[in-house]
Amino acid sequence: MCVVSTHPPTGQQPPQQGTLPATALRGVGQRPFGIYVHVPFCATRCGYCDFNTYTADELAGGGSFRGWLDALKAELELGARVLGEGDRAVPRAETVFVGGGTPSLLGGEGLGEVLDAVRASFGLAPNAEVTTEANPESTSPELFTALLGAGYTRVSLGMQSAAEHVLRVLDRKHTPGRAVAAAGEAMAAGFEHVSLDLIYGTPGESTDDLRGSLEAVLEAGVDHVSAYSLIVEDGTAMARRVRRGELPMPDEDVLAADYELVDGILSKAGFDWYEVSNWATGEAARCAHNIGYWRGGDWWGAGPGAHSHVGGVRWWNLKYPSRYAAALGEGTSPAAGREVLDAEDRRVERVMLELRLREGLTTEVLDDAGVAEARRAVTDGLLRDDELRAGRCVLTDRGRLLADGVVRRLVG
Ligand SMILES: C[S@@+](CC[C@H](N)C(=O)[O-])C[C@H]1O[C@@H](n2cnc3c(N)ncnc32)[C@H](O)[C@@H]1O
Ligand code: SF4
Repeated sequence: MCVVSTHPPTGQQPPQQGTLPATALRGVGQRPFGIYVHVPFCATRCGYCDFNTYTADELAGGGSFRGWLDALKAELELGARVLGEGDRAVPRAETVFVGGGTPSLLGGEGLGEVLDAVRASFGLAPNAEVTTEANPESTSPELFTALLGAGYTRVSLGMQSAAEHVLRVLDRKHTPGRAVAAAGEAMAAGFEHVSLDLIYGTPGESTDDLRGSLEAVLEAGVDHVSAYSLIVEDGTAMARRVRRGELPMPDEDVLAADYELVDGILSKAGFDWYEVSNWATGEAARCAHNIGYWRGGDWWGAGPGAHSHVGGVRWWNLKYPSRYAAALGEGTSPAAGREVLDAEDRRVERVMLELRLREGLTTEVLDDAGVAEARRAVTDGLLRDDELRAGRCVLTDRGRLLADGVVRRLVG
């Protein structure tokens, strides 16, 4: 999934009309650069999901595919002008990630237009990784053939579970076998890189259900898996059901046991974890776009509510598709606010993101208290002793279960 939230952080500042400080622009093109495109449409809303996405009913005429696509093109052109200011070369996208929402609702033609808009504005680097998310409900062999022809190189499908009763609790509309079938169709069309998303810890999911889902993933023959513990997000239908006592909250001990099961089965089958929630069959199967986020690279996030980051400046767009399109229609930036990260913000962010990676984090990023904490975390079995001696903080298997707590310890 897109690993950058489309929720605005608190403490918003007024938007700056399409300019970036010189300090942020310095080094653009030398750091990894990606484009994220947010597609804010879904056929129905899953009860657990609080992403910035809208069904036709929720839009109630206040946004359309065409309006969104025209606005997206305008934003990508604005982005190329901002990053290519003066005689600066416009950075070409090394990675593109079309996420949502449900990009597959755009069909092959719509997604082809999206990629053409990236080509026409920023341009694509040779061998760029180009991913689209897809809901197995809205895919077909023809869609995958069209996507491959348009230049997409990777597909990420929301599977969540292979157990019918679990899919029902999650409000997923597809049948248990549909995601695996869609992955097979993508590979048959010629996609080398296909990923499946799983959610574990859904109320009512048994260990056997989860094992069955993992077996289905392995049968599918994909080269990448993302597995997320169910988060009951405030304001969702699922949170209301939990509050009314109709569903229990996911149990922390069950979630930990589930994670161990996921990791055990995937590792045995030849998948290596490369980020706490992501496994791949080899380096080439890792998601380069998400690695760019985790390593503090630059990216332009286009679309309603999308977040961007360039050289320590972070900004986020207007959330509602109609307001987003209106801003661009008036020739103004669709940004709703931005923050300039200071050195300490950037240091803390590096700890938060890089610690979750298999390669871990250099101890040079830690202050003295953090280094002392890292030594204590080794004693507690959360960080690897051999790696710390070599100057890196690398999570142990147990540390992965408690990654957020380890981050809190290292940054105080
Ligand atoms: C944009 S969706 C993927 C594409 C498509 N919309 C779909 O759902 O099939 C991104 C992924 O985020 C994950 N996700 C969303 N909300 C979640 C939550 N509350 N807890 C855990 N995972 C969540 C799901 O695994 C989902 O597949
Ligand atoms: S289809 Fe995907 S993006 Fe849409 S509501 Fe469901 S999980 Fe969220």
